[in-house]
Amino acid sequence: MSYQLLKGKRGIIFGALDENSIAWKTAERVYEEGGSFVLTNAPIALRMGTINTLAEKTKSTVIPADATSMEDLENLVKQAQEVLGGKLDFVLHSIGMSLNVRKGCHYTEENYEFTAKGWDISALSFHKVLQVLYKNDAMNEWGSVVALTYMAAQRTFPDYNDMADNKAYLESIARSFGYFFGKNKKVRVNTISQSPTPTTAGKGVKGFDGFITYAEKMSPLGNATALECANYTVAMFSDLTRKVTMQNLFHDGGFSNTGVSQEVISAFTKE
Ligand SMILES: NC(=O)c1ccc[n+]([C@@H]2O[C@H](COP(=O)([O-])OP(=O)(O)OC[C@H]3O[C@@H](n4cnc5c(N)ncnc54)[C@H](O)[C@@H]3O)[C@@H](O)[C@H]2O)c1
Repeated sequence: MSYQLLKGKRGIIFGALDENSIAWKTAERVYEEGGSFVLTNAPIALRMGTINTLAEKTKSTVIPADATSMEDLENLVKQAQEVLGGKLDFVLHSIGMSLNVRKGCHYTEENYEFTAKGWDISALSFHKVLQVLYKNDAMNEWGSVVALTYMAAQRTFPDYNDMADNKAYLESIARSFGYFFGKNKKVRVNTISQSPTPTTAGKGVKGFDGFITYAEKMSPLGNATALECANYTVAMFSDLTRKVTMQNLFHDGGFSNTGVSQEVISAFTKE
């Protein structure tokens, strides 16, 4: 399935770690739709992951960057434009990590050094990416920047821990920076709020198996897969969504507007 929606467009894709990553699927779909891009990830993730396979498949260059480092981001944005031969049309921020989750610190007993580091990686990095793009005038008019988020920003999911707070901050950045990027450069900034998805980051959440099954039963259309998220992102990068900006866009099979489903009621009904 290819509509060549991104023919001639250039961009940067953050966060493809392995073939389960949402960013991996997005890179494959963007390539099929005619887009060219630079792949990037933190240096340590590049050593651990299999990104070179994806780079070969999508004829793209890999440029390492720790998304918390302004120096790395400056270098990335400069080099990406050189490699791709011009300004950028799309950027995907697909980055998340909580040290509190990883080290098993309960939300009520946060280690604040971990909190600060996780916030820098998962939320503030989005502001840093936007600031570097903005200051260097690196985006073409009607370009599109997308970051991935989760509904724990609006509603409580106990085991999502401090990532809930990080996602709330991330979504706010899309609105606040989206105003200036829209007004001054005609660039869109949005977040896509995705269903639970079995990736390295997703499976790091305690009780993920029960959680993803519950979401599947609650969503009238079922959970959205990583590939479906990639397709939605392609639409958001395309010229067909030019006036969509500063939005948090739910991509979750209807979960976010469902009070309860028949399947869930049935599971609790005594015969
Ligand atoms: N999997 C889910 O259930 C789900 C649901 C909704 C939203 N999301 C979001 O989707 C995005 C992508 O996650 P995923 O599920 O594909 O998992 P993933 O583990 O494949 O991707 C997370 C990526 O973040 C990168 N990263 C971590 N620290 C970094 C740093 N300092 N600099 C640059 N990159 C860094 C990792 O290397 C990895 O590639 C995240 O923002 C995540 O919160 C995931």
